[in-house]
Amino acid sequence: MKKVLVLNGPNLNLLGKREPEIYGRIDLTQIRADLEDVARNKVEIDLRQTNSEAELIDWIHEAFTQKLDVILNPAAFTHYSYALRDACSALSANGQKLIEVHISNPHAREEFRHTSVISGVASGVIAGFGAQSYTLALKALIDN
Ligand code: DQA
Repeated sequence: MKKVLVLNGPNLNLLGKREPEIYGRIDLTQIRADLEDVARNKVEIDLRQTNSEAELIDWIHEAFTQKLDVILNPAAFTHYSYALRDACSALSANGQKLIEVHISNPHAREEFRHTSVISGVASGVIAGFGAQSYTLALKALIDN
């Protein structure tokens, strides 16, 4: 079965506890379970989280090499990591799908969050639907 990498950047290990008024009370364990429900008999979910930019880039390279599609919440790296963007760009140029997701709607928040250096090389962006952003992204991946 085809594997989809669901990669999460810094501070998302605190989901469920971190600023719940912005990010809700659902943690990554629940998000993994929700994704597995949608994925059942269609794709395999490999969900990971790191606080390290280098590790996140290594995982994008792994997806590149193994020709896997990716759902990515780059968290704060969204706004400034050109290195992560370059890794994502290589993936897209290779014909693989990369969906950028955000739990909150960064455009409705502080100005520094209005810029995404990732969106320009993503296949699509889903933001602002809470934890559901992830399952919406997976449905889009499965259907397209
Ligand atoms: C986020 C939005 C980012 O601006 C922020 O740095 C995050 C989470 C989101 O999922 O809403 O850490 O990517």
